[in-house]
Amino acid sequence: MHTKFTLTRRQLLVGTAHTALAASAITEAAAATDVLPRVTVTRDPNCGCCIAWVEHMRASGFPVDVVEIDDVVPLKVKLGVPEALMSCHTSQVGSYVVEGHVPADAVKRLLAERPDATGIAVAGMPIGSPGMEIKGEAPRPYEVVIFSNDRQNVFARFRGTRQT
Ligand code: CU
Ligand code: CU
Repeated sequence: MHTKFTLTRRQLLVGTAHTALAASAITEAAAATDVLPRVTVTRDPNCGCCIAWVEHMRASGFPVDVVEIDDVVPLKVKLGVPEALMSCHTSQVGSYVVEGHVPADAVKRLLAERPDATGIAVAGMPIGSPGMEIKGEAPRPYEVVIFSNDRQNVFARFRGTRQT
């Protein structure tokens, strides 16, 4: 009788442990689907604003790798960034190119909607865009452009990190 009780209790404990394990496995699986893909940023080591953008992306939950290269332009050309949309740093996330100081929210939308395009870009370096904040200067409005080799369209309009 005593032995039987012990076994039952043991089985109960083992059962509880399995349930706990299963629950944590489910939690991990759910978390994995929420994890943002890695962003690889190629930048000129002499430029500072790209690092500020990297910090913006990391703060927004993206894992970021940084590659430093003296001349980023050949990579932009190779990846199909139109000349008119070129900025300082060039990023790759999944199958997309993200050129310049694009807000993280626009990158998240790109990844959620998965449009047929080469990528998105913020041309130049608008004041107030992520990584281009200047103390005492009001953020200027700017466009995030979605591009392919044969077309360019407005993907979103922003002022600072706020969509307008
Ligand atoms: Cu820049
Ligand atoms: Cu830069």
